[in-house]
Amino acid sequence: MKNFTFHNPTKLIFGKGEVEKLAEQMKDYQKVLLVYGGGSIKRSGLYDQVIDQLEQAKVEIFELAGVEPNPRLTTVKKGVELCKTEKIDFLLAVGGGSTIDCTKAIAAGAKYDGDPWDLVTRKAPVVDALPLGTVLTLAATGSEMNGNSVITNWETNEKHGWGSPIVMPTFSILDPVNTYTVPKDQTVYGIVDMMSHVFEHYFHHEKNTPFQDRMCEGLLKTVIDTAPKLLDDLENYEYRATILYCGTMALNGVLNMGYHGDWASHNLEHAVSAVHDIPHGGGLAIIFPNWMKYSLDEDVSRFKQMAIRVFDVDPSGKSDRDVALLGIEKLREFWNSIGAPSRLADYDITEETITLMAEKTVAAGPNFGNFKSLNKEDAEAIFRASL
Ligand code: NZQ
Ligand code: ZN
Repeated sequence: MKNFTFHNPTKLIFGKGEVEKLAEQMKDYQKVLLVYGGGSIKRSGLYDQVIDQLEQAKVEIFELAGVEPNPRLTTVKKGVELCKTEKIDFLLAVGGGSTIDCTKAIAAGAKYDGDPWDLVTRKAPVVDALPLGTVLTLAATGSEMNGNSVITNWETNEKHGWGSPIVMPTFSILDPVNTYTVPKDQTVYGIVDMMSHVFEHYFHHEKNTPFQDRMCEGLLKTVIDTAPKLLDDLENYEYRATILYCGTMALNGVLNMGYHGDWASHNLEHAVSAVHDIPHGGGLAIIFPNWMKYSLDEDVSRFKQMAIRVFDVDPSGKSDRDVALLGIEKLREFWNSIGAPSRLADYDITEETITLMAEKTVAAGPNFGNFKSLNKEDAEAIFRASL
């Protein structure tokens, strides 16, 4: 196990009706920028509850609406401008990962003199940011309790992840009821995304991570058990609560202490989204099993362990490789069974953009992936296997 320091300062406020605790979180602030997406929070009534809380807190309210799924640099810039001209002192993101990620970029951009894209591409370090909080409406990214953000520059077709502890939310309010209205397809994408975060952790070469492995496997088994029940009963509080909690825990630093995960599949998917603007979870469902097959021989035993412990593959009479392959097959079957896409063709993506997507995958450097180091040719091969 590697040395590590764990520090997660986000206050997690979880449960039914907990939006009522928003006002008391705001007591130190005067001018708040409320950031949200394309209108789901107005349709669900959450917007009115949030405004009521902000009024109780007697803060001055400014708004930035219309954050896109796969949030864009242009929207970040609008937010930065508002923060600077109105002297905003707190940002409140109400929505899914896209809204939260955009808010993080605004928070850092507001304290930076240049183009916020410099922060996303790591040309400039993040040294300061406005504080932010979140009210989460979609279980998926873990952005509510981590310092990561993913922003798309539509002019250059680039989608990059960046991160800093400075943009970790000071608080996040998670009421499973606020996820009742997430449609079936977005619920599926969220499930795929949180499972993918655990897979990214799981494939590493560090020896002696027995507790970490069991935590990862426990989260995966819980999601596999709960997801079909939730998809049959979208307004079931307990199923929504379980999935919401799993989404946060999958990427808040708890599962991956003492080792570095792989993250190549996220690199590959971000390139697909940057060129084709598809949902992140949809792209991962297509790419991840193909990455697994491509990377299998790097360490068959990790895949075998996953197959047996997570997918209940019976190893008797089979080679390690066959057991591992059966596990990957079971993952594909599970994602198919809940309605996730399995081929790039499901999004009308053809051979034509493979080279471009591979170029975008290596935009930040020639190699990517910690478990198996990949390059542009590898990216092309995995995209081709995903067609
Ligand atoms: O925009 P609105 O109207 O709110 O609608 C959204 C959007 O259309 C809708 N939605 C959200 N909550 C809803 C709802 N509809 C009905 N009821 C609700 N309660 O769902 C759609 C998708 O929302 P989005 O925020 O884009 O989804 P998600 O949370 O999956 O975020 C995806 C983004 O996060 C990035 C992805 O790359 C992508 O850009 N990621 C961020 C990470 C992080 N910060 O740690 C890690 C991830 O790996 C990921 O890359
Ligand atoms: Zn993800």
